[in-house]
Amino acid sequence: MSRFKTDILILGSGIAGLAIAIKTAIAYPNKKITVVTKAQESESNTKYAQGGIAVVWDKLDSFQSHIDDTLKAGDYLNDMEVVNMVIKEAPACLEKLINWGAEFDMDTKGDLDLGKEGGHSAHRIIHHKDVTGLEIELTLLEQIEQLKNISLLPYHFAIDIITEHHTEEKKIISPDEEINCFGAYIMNQQTQSIDTYVAGVTILATGGIGQVYASTTNPTIATGDGIAMAFRAKAKVSEMEFVQFHPTALYKPGESPSFLISEAVRGFGAYLRNKEGKRFMLDIDGRAELASRDIVARAINMEMLRTGDECVYLDCTHLDKEAFKNHFPNIYSKCKRIGVDISRDSIPVVPASHYLCGGIEVDIHGRSSIKNLYACGECSRTGLHGANRLASNSLLEALVYAQKIAEDIIAHPAYLEPKKVAIPEWNEEGTTAPDELILITHNRKMVQTIMSNLVSIVRSNERLEKALDQLNYLYQDTEKLYAKSKMSPQLAELRNLNAIAFLIVTQSLERKENRGAFFSLDYE
Ligand code: FAD
Ligand code: SIN
Repeated sequence: MSRFKTDILILGSGIAGLAIAIKTAIAYPNKKITVVTKAQESESNTKYAQGGIAVVWDKLDSFQSHIDDTLKAGDYLNDMEVVNMVIKEAPACLEKLINWGAEFDMDTKGDLDLGKEGGHSAHRIIHHKDVTGLEIELTLLEQIEQLKNISLLPYHFAIDIITEHHTEEKKIISPDEEINCFGAYIMNQQTQSIDTYVAGVTILATGGIGQVYASTTNPTIATGDGIAMAFRAKAKVSEMEFVQFHPTALYKPGESPSFLISEAVRGFGAYLRNKEGKRFMLDIDGRAELASRDIVARAINMEMLRTGDECVYLDCTHLDKEAFKNHFPNIYSKCKRIGVDISRDSIPVVPASHYLCGGIEVDIHGRSSIKNLYACGECSRTGLHGANRLASNSLLEALVYAQKIAEDIIAHPAYLEPKKVAIPEWNEEGTTAPDELILITHNRKMVQTIMSNLVSIVRSNERLEKALDQLNYLYQDTEKLYAKSKMSPQLAELRNLNAIAFLIVTQSLERKENRGAFFSLDYE
């Protein structure tokens, strides 16, 4: 067990974590910035983002139009100040990303090519083919490489953030007292050592929670670790009931995570049809296939329940094949590999868990309710998305809030000063390596099954109560395992998934109306 000191500790290497690292490293060449990430450097939700980033760029578009679309998609539960700020700061943040080297597709006139997605009333999606996230992730990693005051540590798993609860006095904080963050306990997955990282400020940029469901577009890293850590440390976590299901994940039983068929494909003109060939979205919303995501996902779910079919179909057969291949080479070749020729066959699709609109509550500077602890990106709840995120507003939110957090840290150098507290090493007394991992993998599958069967697109109080009972049993079982087992990434993820499931269910039970992505049979 070792002890490390760093000025800025960033947990996560997606767009949020990397953008903050670059901005603070440039402003503070003499400060040490440490980025830890639990898998290979680029593994993240960011890497798989397809459609792009929503930014007002076209002269015929307007900030007001993007604001209106964001509010409408969010069912007006958004924070107005945040929506205004993010949308107006977006073009400058995008320009910075382009200056760092990110390449986006251009149109024939040499301007940025702008795509369209559900819920947008204008073309404003900046993209790199259908692999926008990969382009951004690789660009950011290249910048990181050049900044010598950043240490990027792959295969380092953050177990818990350190607060007064861990200090040597084990101070009990009363509800109105300030909680401080002093860094994090991090497992070096190569040595298995759980080391103490003491930091001036700590930033949670740990991404989403898709893996709490059996069917998700999110990679296996998306286990809600940062949100669970913040919750254990008593940070405010809210709006967890607003889980967004993407309408069109490729239907391929047994494949996990599910491959995404970007919403940009519907923006390009594809139709949703049932097995009989009917365009059922025409009866549901005037925007048909380009209604906001909550509406389309729910309509598909209803159509599947009505027909008893296991999927619906995305019809691209009327589209120009060469133009499709050029815009969506990744989707085209994935379909081809599984025997779907998009010029002749429709693509079988189903909704899958995709994005969390809620998370760790932060203010307009990205500060959480715990002092010296920020949250950025998908793990945070900024107020931008309200009850349902508008397509392609997530990469944007991460980019703009990375800027806000960097500015806040730069404006307050005192935040980086060492704190005078005695922090003990990670305590693993009385624990031993588990004999069998099956106990952990079994419980992980159980959590995913409960969430997929009882806490999915359509909920009810009866289903939620049942889920809570079953999760309580799993929680107790996992806590028993936790008390006696040496810590491992698998066990930490299970504990975190349990916490995330608990938060989604309890906060769903608290919501007494249908709003955005939250839909219960008990309300109108
Ligand atoms: P991530 O990119 O997920 O990064 C989280 C990082 O934290 C990872 O490096 C992870 O390994 C690390 N981490 C997690 N837990 C720990 C731990 N315990 N210890 C150490 N490290 C940890 N949004 C859009 O706006 N436009 C799109 O076109 C779009 N397409 C998408 C397509 C797909 C298939 C998916 C899954 C998402 C898409 N999204 C899109 C959503 C968007 O990609 C994410 O919301 C965004 O990338 C999140 O960025 P982030 O930096 O917050 O988290
Ligand atoms: C997609 O390409 O459909 C995903 C866009 C998003 O999640 O915003």
